[in-house]
Amino acid sequence: MNDDPCVLVESLKKSFPTGDTRLEVLKGLDLTLHWGEFTVVTGSSGSGKSTLLHILGGLDRIDSGRVSCCGISIGAMTEKQLSYFRRDYIGFIFQNHYLIDDLTVRENLVLPGLMNSRDKLEVEQAADSLIERVGLSERRSHFPQQLSGGERQRVAIARAFMNNPRIILADEPTGNLDEENTTIVMEMLMEIIGEKGKTLVLVTHDQELAKAGETIYRLKEGVLHKL
Ligand SMILES: Nc1ncnc2c1ncn2[C@@H]1O[C@H](COP(=O)(O)OP(=O)(O)OP(=O)(O)O)[C@@H](O)[C@H]1O
Ligand SMILES: [Mg+2]
Repeated sequence: MNDDPCVLVESLKKSFPTGDTRLEVLKGLDLTLHWGEFTVVTGSSGSGKSTLLHILGGLDRIDSGRVSCCGISIGAMTEKQLSYFRRDYIGFIFQNHYLIDDLTVRENLVLPGLMNSRDKLEVEQAADSLIERVGLSERRSHFPQQLSGGERQRVAIARAFMNNPRIILADEPTGNLDEENTTIVMEMLMEIIGEKGKTLVLVTHDQELAKAGETIYRLKEGVLHKL
């Protein structure tokens, strides 16, 4: 770790085709993320929060500008380089968990580990340790549909840490949860982030949650405003 920014976004523009025109979503956005920093992005529905997170995670391309991670331009990467970038640097937590229904809790964690060409035994041990970390050891052979919403989100958090990524991108990880589960899930996420010194970008509508961020932005009219 050093003082160089972990992610640097400069003059980022992103639009989507809509009929004959294009919908301009991000309009020259700048953002600097430092290592180990906890950044929150808020903003109204449709303002482009998920779009920004997808771009940071190498899941979507940009129209113009520059997005670099550890000094490497993500925009210039081939699809193959992007997939390595995602595998090696990024842990994504989605609003709708996206667990694989046909796999157990443990298998949902083991899969991304094996995709990273790691030793099976080591991957299984890492999965078990993370499952324990999120308090679900008793549930490790359950399928996602046999879990509560909060439990599924805890599995999704554990999965995001499987390949020990340096950057965690969380898109409304508590969006579908009640207040009690929101607290449990957030405490768990914050504990693991703190322990492992990860860089976290959290997107949320929840004003209370937003206050936990070290740096808080509001995405409005295609650019970020520091709060
Ligand atoms: N693939 C796409 N094609 C066309 N339009 C899109 C696409 N993805 C997003 N958009 C549009 O871009 C805008 C920003 O979408 P985005 O999902 O980033 O918003 P958001 O801030 O995450 O909203 P929410 O809080 O509701 O999740 C929206 O108007 C959306 O309809
Ligand atoms: Mg969204």
